[in-house]
Amino acid sequence: MVSRRGTEVSPFLAMDVLERASERSDVIHLEVGEPDFAPPDRVVDTAVESLRAGNTNYTAARGKPALRRAIAARYDREYGVTVDPDRIVVTPGSSPGLLLALAAVVDPGDGVVLTDPHYACYPNFVRTVSGRIETVPLRAADGYQPRVDAFAAAVDASTRALLLNSPANPTGAVLDGDTLDSLVGVASDADAVPIVDEIYHGLSYDAEEHTVLEYTDDAFVLDGFSKRYAMTGWRLGWLVAPPDYVDVINRLAQNLLICAPNFVQDAGVAALETPPARLDAIRDTYRERRDLLVDAVSDWGLDLGYTPQGAYYLLADVSDLPGDAMEIADLFLEEAGVAVTPGIDFGDEAADYLRLSYATDAAAIETAIERIDRLLETVDRSGPIR
Ligand SMILES: Cc1ncc(COP(=O)(O)O)c(C=O)c1O
Repeated sequence: MVSRRGTEVSPFLAMDVLERASERSDVIHLEVGEPDFAPPDRVVDTAVESLRAGNTNYTAARGKPALRRAIAARYDREYGVTVDPDRIVVTPGSSPGLLLALAAVVDPGDGVVLTDPHYACYPNFVRTVSGRIETVPLRAADGYQPRVDAFAAAVDASTRALLLNSPANPTGAVLDGDTLDSLVGVASDADAVPIVDEIYHGLSYDAEEHTVLEYTDDAFVLDGFSKRYAMTGWRLGWLVAPPDYVDVINRLAQNLLICAPNFVQDAGVAALETPPARLDAIRDTYRERRDLLVDAVSDWGLDLGYTPQGAYYLLADVSDLPGDAMEIADLFLEEAGVAVTPGIDFGDEAADYLRLSYATDAAAIETAIERIDRLLETVDRSGPIR
């Protein structure tokens, strides 16, 4: 019999849409968060050389010392924060890092507070450790910045963690430093720990990025190579743990993960040496795509109500169109060949929304915009959807 936790884990709709969209060759993919850039050549060369050199055995569960030192140096370089490499555990992608952090912090029935909207997988991670999900609604009118008082009201004696994400999927909101600092205070007053997903760091357009480690050592940080270095399928990430949790995280990593792939860790060191100009150029490309899509959404008469400042997503309110967001996503796919994700994937607050990703090249985004322009001209906004 399937366990209750297994039964409760919901499908990731974006992946379901991708599966359906993949049945047609003409579909433009605005549903997935997969960067269309290739990793830098040096990264590929380093992985191949390391593989040929025979680096195919296990490493220490924490990861190779050179990579952990390189990650620590990045915190110093980019945020002026000193992080002891001993607090860093290398993981196969950032997702297993979240599992380790939650397993270290949450007992069955303990509360984890997250925002709504949130990254689609977060509730399923919490369910997997039998935690209790508490949500704090976010509003477009606030630029999807969390309200500190709403977080303070959501925590109680059983709260063990605040799960935050900046730049955020699916909104593209970037947490400002003061709010992040205040949320650290909320967590500390409640004897809870912040777990901050910084996987989209490096992809912010009009906002200054802050790591939670600027404000406290007593936080978990999830980050990795998937987004900024376009290395999704390489499965390489890391977790920074609070000093008191380093030992338990290492024991969990030893048992649950063994280690991240050996030669991929060497490629990670090369990725961290990518010249800043190259990363800046990629970020500028995303910014241009964001502007294209933001203008298009407003031309479609849909309400954005905020400017997404980071990651590569935006959340558009489609409640003024006939039909619900699921039906509109279907219509976009079937009639226009444009795949988007229904907002319900990201929480009840996003049920009337669609998430559009701009991790696709500008020419494809322009074609998608033209197709939706044409489709919306044929939709009677006061009648049924078809
Ligand atoms: C907010 C967020 N966190 C984590 C992940 C997973 O990242 P990784 O490939 O490092 O496991 C994603 C992937 O889309 C994401 O959007």
